[in-house]
Order: sequence, then structure tokens, then C-alpha cells
Amino acid sequence: MAPPRTLYMLRTLTVLLLLSVDAMLMPAFAVQDDFYQTSCPDAESVIANTVNAEIDKNFKIAAGLIRMAFHDCFVEGCDGSVLLEGEDTERTAEINLTLLGFEAIDAAETAVEAVCPGVVSCADIIAYAARDSTVKLNGTGWVVQGGRKDGNVSSAAAAQNDLPLPTFDASQLIDAFAQRNLSTQQMVVLSGAHTVGVGHCNKFVERLYNFSPTNDTDPTLNATLANQLKLECPSLTFNETIEIFMETITPGQFDSNYYVDLTRQNGLFTSDQTLFEDSRTQQLVESLISEQLFDSEFGEAMRALGTVGVKTEGQVRTICSQVNA
Ligand code: HEM
Repeated sequence: MAPPRTLYMLRTLTVLLLLSVDAMLMPAFAVQDDFYQTSCPDAESVIANTVNAEIDKNFKIAAGLIRMAFHDCFVEGCDGSVLLEGEDTERTAEINLTLLGFEAIDAAETAVEAVCPGVVSCADIIAYAARDSTVKLNGTGWVVQGGRKDGNVSSAAAAQNDLPLPTFDASQLIDAFAQRNLSTQQMVVLSGAHTVGVGHCNKFVERLYNFSPTNDTDPTLNATLANQLKLECPSLTFNETIEIFMETITPGQFDSNYYVDLTRQNGLFTSDQTLFEDSRTQQLVESLISEQLFDSEFGEAMRALGTVGVKTEGQVRTICSQVNA
């Protein structure tokens, strides 16, 4: 048995090694801090002011814009492909029909084009807007890297195939994130975005009435919450557009209460609650209840998400919903 000091040094070395492997997997050169410092110094403030004004008009889009960054990066990489309009584009996929905030991106694009035409990509505007929305919801924020180019491929089928589903278990979530070089820890941290925003009945109603194998209520769903949800979503086929807050304690605040909810079995989707039920992620959930840890980890994980599939060649669209002529 090695002495405790040797064990400590070994553990430190292992952590350093893992961190450097993480760093090697990331295309650090593709995106950079202060990317627009010389080409468009006002870009970040113009985007932040516009996004704030749009959220003041419609509070719901704050959560929508955080979700949008995820949906953009997971499909075709972070390239603004989620913004393209047209037949069978990502926007038309069922999974994206409840995505909010497109008008805020368009407004930010118009505002930034007025100060620096043709410089700031739509993919970058999504990344800045997600951070600005988090700050607007009392989150801490992070330094957003810029330099993504906009793509011109967008497919509804790809969005439907590539985005994880609310019925996923921990293994499926771990795999989906690993395919994008995101670790299990980053997956658990990013899921913390469900501290804000809403879900619709059809995304979790199986858990209330038809959970396999018993065809009853999911035993990992808190019974009190299950009864409340049954009142709001009265049947398996109920299809109204009722919105349910995904976090039960402070649903309008970007904080770590999502993880508190999970320890009480108040996660709304299977994909939320599984993070506490699975032994590979349970301790991570417990540690992320620390507000300080969640704040710093979330910013780092969003920076990592923002490097997924980044294109260094391509367009800077002048209208975010259309490829340049
Ligand atoms: C881990 C896998 C994930 C799954 C399975 C998942 C699934 C979902 C589902 C089903 C909804 C509700 C959609 C609706 O009913 O209309 C939702 C909402 C949301 N998701 Fe996720 N999500 C995941 C990860 C993420 C990540 C990584 C982020 C951001 C970093 C995120 C941010 C959000 C936000 C903010 C909302 C609320 C949107 C609103 O209120 O308009 N999600 N998610």
C-alpha cells in the first residue's frame, strides 16, 4: 500500500492528465476569447443590449435562447444551422417546434450589422445570446468565445436524430454527449440549464400513466409532484399547450436548485431524474447543489459545448434565417 502522500500525488497527476486530454480534444484554435475586439469592438454590448430588450418584451425567450445554443451545437455543430428557414430545415423538426427566441437573434443580427456589416456570425450571436440570457436570469455568466462561421446545411431529420430525448436514460445521455467530446460531468452540468424554463405534457406524460414495465406512474417521480402533474396533464393523450416549470423551487432563476429537485425526485423528465438515480452521476448531482461550483462549471461546460463541430470556413450570414445569396 503506497503512503497517503504518494497516493495524493498520483491522484493529482491523474486529474492533470485527464484535464490535458480534455484540452487536447478541444479545438482551442477554432474559437477565441475577445474574438471581435478589433473587428467589431461593440459587438458583445450591442448583442447584450438587444437580447436584454427582447427578453423585457417576452420573458419566456430567455430560457429559449439557452436551449437554442444546445440545439444549434448538437446538430451540425455550432454553426447557426438551427436558424435557417425553409422546407425540412432543423427549425421545422418536431423537437424544435417549441424552441423560442428566434426574433431576439434576428434583432441582434440587425443591430450588429448596423455597426459592423458582415463581421459577426449568427452562430456566435447564438452563443453570446445564451450567456446574456443566463445573466438576465441572475446567473453568473462566462466569457464567450467567438469565431464560428455559419453553415449552410440544415436538416429536420438530423435535428430529430441528433438531439437527446426526454425519455433517455443515463447511458444514452452519456453516449450522446461523448459523441461530441463532452464528458459525463459536462453532461450533468449542462443539464442544469433545466433550472429555468418549461416543458410540455407530451414530453413526460408517459411517466404519469404508462411507465414501463408496470404501465403505471414512474416510481422515481415524487408522488406529490406526480399527483400535481396529473391534474395539469389529465391523460396520456392530453395535447393542450400547457407549460410546466421544469424546476419547482426557483424556476425563473438561473441557480443550482435543479439539483436539489433531483435529490427530491422532482426531476420533470426521465432524462433529468436518471442523473440522480444512476450511480455514475449521483455524486455529481449532489456536488452541483453547491451554487459556486455549478456557476463556474456551467460556464466552462458552455464554452466546451460552444466548440462542438465549429466551422472555420464558411459564411457570415447577413440574415440569420437565410444563407447569403
Ligand atoms: C441532456 C439532455 C437534454 C434533454 C433530453 C432535454 C430535453 C428538453 C425538453 C424535452 C425540453 C422541453 C421542451 C418542450 O416541452 O417544449 C427542454 C427544455 C429546455 N432545455 Fe433541455 N434537454 C437536454 C439538455 C439541455 C441542455 C444541455 C440545455 C442547455 C445548455 C438545455 C436547455 C433547456 C432549456 C433552457 C429549456 C426550457 C426552454 C423553454 O422554456 O422554452 N437542455 N429540454
